[in-house]
Amino acid sequence: PTLVAPKANDSSFIAKMKASGKNIVVFYGSQTGTAEEFALRLVKEAARYGMKALYPADPEECEMEELSKLSEINNSLVIFCMATYGEGDPTDNASAFYEWLKSEEPDLTGVNYAVFGLGNKTYEHFNSMGKFFDKRLEELGATRVVEAGVGDDDGNMEEDFLTWKDTLWPAVLDFFGLEMNLQEISMRQYRLEIPDVPSEKLFTGEIARLRSYQTQRPPFDAKNPFLAQVTAWRELHKGGDRSCMHIELDISNSKLRYDSGDHVAVYPVNDPALVNRFGELLSVDLDTQISLVNIDDQSTKKHPFPCPCTYRTALSHYLDITSNPRTHVLKELAEHTTNFEEKQKLLMMASSSLEGKELYQQWVLQDNRSLLHILEDLPSCKPSLDLVCELLTRLQSRYYSISSSSKLHPETVHITAVLLKYATPTGRINKGVATTWLASKKPQPDQPPHQVPIFIRKSQFRLPARHQTPIIMVGPGTGVAPFRGFVQERLKVKREGKPVGDTVLFFGCRKKTEDFLYEEEFDESIQEGLLTLHTAFSREQPEKKVYVTHLLKEQGEYIWRIISEESGHIYVCGDARNMARDVHDIIVDICSKFGKLSSSEAHAFVKKLETQRRYSADVWS
Ligand code: FAD
Ligand code: 2AM
Repeated sequence: PTLVAPKANDSSFIAKMKASGKNIVVFYGSQTGTAEEFALRLVKEAARYGMKALYPADPEECEMEELSKLSEINNSLVIFCMATYGEGDPTDNASAFYEWLKSEEPDLTGVNYAVFGLGNKTYEHFNSMGKFFDKRLEELGATRVVEAGVGDDDGNMEEDFLTWKDTLWPAVLDFFGLEMNLQEISMRQYRLEIPDVPSEKLFTGEIARLRSYQTQRPPFDAKNPFLAQVTAWRELHKGGDRSCMHIELDISNSKLRYDSGDHVAVYPVNDPALVNRFGELLSVDLDTQISLVNIDDQSTKKHPFPCPCTYRTALSHYLDITSNPRTHVLKELAEHTTNFEEKQKLLMMASSSLEGKELYQQWVLQDNRSLLHILEDLPSCKPSLDLVCELLTRLQSRYYSISSSSKLHPETVHITAVLLKYATPTGRINKGVATTWLASKKPQPDQPPHQVPIFIRKSQFRLPARHQTPIIMVGPGTGVAPFRGFVQERLKVKREGKPVGDTVLFFGCRKKTEDFLYEEEFDESIQEGLLTLHTAFSREQPEKKVYVTHLLKEQGEYIWRIISEESGHIYVCGDARNMARDVHDIIVDICSKFGKLSSSEAHAFVKKLETQRRYSADVWS
C-alpha cells in the first residue's frame, strides 16, 4: 500500500528536525490519548537529559516514508509509543503506517529506535502492535537502543511506563556516548493567554470546528460529531438498585449509516458539580476566557483543546477530570504545594523508588483518587487552574455497541447502557461520566429534546452474509446489546418468509425479575419461532452461581455440531475481563471433547474460526 500524502504541506518531520536542531522524534499510535500522553512526556523529558525532541508526532500527519532519512541526522533516535486496539489492531491514526511498514521493505539501516507498546492483558492479542513495531524495525535494519517496553492497562500502565523509562534514558545516553547531566527546566508546554473575544468566537464544547454544533454539516465523524436528538429513554431494569438505560438517538438527516454490530461513540459532559469544585478549591472564576498556546511554535498542536474557551467549557467538555492522575502530574503538583508533608508525599509518589511506587499504587490507584480528590485531601496544594488544564488529559468519547438493527430502525441508533456508580475506599461516590450524563437525557414534555454528540465506528462484528447460517450468541448483561440488533434483523427476514438458520442466544443476568434485558422482545422472537434462548440467572439460587458459561457446557454437543457441520458462527459480547475469556476456554474444550481434538488442535481450530470471522468477540473491560 502507498501512504497517502498528508494534507499539511509541512509534513516533512526530517526537514523540521534539521531546521530546529532536534535529534529525537516521538511517534504515537493512540486511540484514547494515553500513548499520545506518554509520547508528550518523553518529549518533555528528553530536554531534561540535554537532548532535543520534536513534539509528539502523529504518523497520520507525517511523511513516514522519510523514516530512513533519520540516519542523516547525527545521534538521532525515533521512539514509538504504540497502542494496540480492539482485536490486535493498530489505532486509527497508525493504521496506514502499519500497513505500509508491514508490506514495504524500506532500508532502515542507521536508524536508531525504541518502542513502548500499550495494551491490555485481558485481550487476546496483548500488545501485538508494540511487538510488531519492535520486531519489524529490526528486520528492516534499524538498531534497537533499548528493550521494548510493555504496558498493561489491566495491571498498572503507569508503573510499566516508569520502569521502562528508567531503562530508556540511560541506554540512550550510553548509546550516544553522552554524560548524564540532568537539568531542571520548566516543563510547561502551553502558556496562558486571556483573550477578550465576543461569545460567538468562543468554543463551547465543539470537538474541532467553531460553532459546528450550531451549523451542523455532514460528513459526521469523530472530529465532527452529529448532535443526535434523544427520542426515547427508558429504564430496562424492573427491580434491584441498579439502572440500565435504553436510549434511542435520532440520526435522520445526518447521512449517518450503521450496521448491526457497529459502535456508536458518545461525547459526554462532566458533572457540573465537579467542575464547580475546581473553581471553589482554586478560587477561580470559571467563566474566565482562556487560551492555552503551545510554547513550541513548531508544534502542529497549537492548543491542547479547542481554544479560546472558558475554564468552565474546558473542564466540562474537553478534560478528563475524573481519572486517576499519572505520576508526572503529581510531580508538577508538588511544585505548588506549600505544606512540607503534603509536598513530600507528592514527590515520593512521583519518584521511581519502590516505596514511592507502592504509595502511588495505594493512595492514588487503589483509593481511587482523582485530581479533585487530591486537591481536597492536600489542602496546601494550589496549582494554577491553567496548569491543571495543561496536565489533565482529553475527555474521551465512550463507545456503545449499537443495540438496534438498521434494517428495522434506519433512522435511530439504540444504546443499552448500565449506569456506573460506586463507592471508593475514601468514602466518596464516583459516578461514570458518560452514563451519568446520559441518565439525565430523558425527554421531558414541553421541553426541546436533549441532544447528544455522536459518531459511528464501523466494526467487524457482523452477522453472516447468509441468513441460513446458524449463529450462537453469548451476551450476558449489556453484552446482549448487539444481539438485540442481530435478532431484530433476523426476525425481519423471517417475517418476510425467507428461511433463517438457528438463532441461539445465551443471556445471563442476576435475577429474572430485576435485570432481564428486553425480555418481552426476546419472548416475541421465541413465539415467532426464530429465537432459542438460554438464560442464566446468577443470583436466584443462593447456593450457587449459574452463568452463561455453565449453559454453554451443557449445550456442548449441539455447539460442536453447529460449528463443525453447519459452518455456524459464534459471537461473544460483554465483559472482557472474565466472561469472554471463560467462554473462549469453554469453546476450546467443547471442540476438544466433541471433535476429539488434542488441546493444541482444539486451540488451532478455534484460531481458524477467528481468522474466518466465525468466532467474533466484541468485548470491553
Ligand atoms: P467512566 O467515567 O469512564 O468510568 C469508568 C471507569 O471507572 C472504569 O474504567 C474504571 O476505571 C472505573 N470503575 C468502574 N467501576 C469501578 C468500581 N466498581 N470500582 C472502582 N473503579 C471502577 N457499556 C455499556 O453499558 N453498554 C454497551 O453496549 C457498551 N459497549 C461498549 C463497546 C465497546 C467497544 C467499548 C470499548 C465499551 C463499551 N461499553 C459499553 C463501555 C462504555 O464505553 C463505558 O466504558 C461505560 O459506559 C462507562 O462509561 P462512563 O463514562 O459512565 O464511566
Ligand atoms: P454475578 O454478577 O452474579 O457474578 C451479567 O453481568 C451477568 O454475568 C451477571 O449475572 C453476572 O453474575 C454474570 N457473570 C459474572 N462473571 C461471569 C463470567 N465469568 N462468566 C459468565 N457470566 C458471568
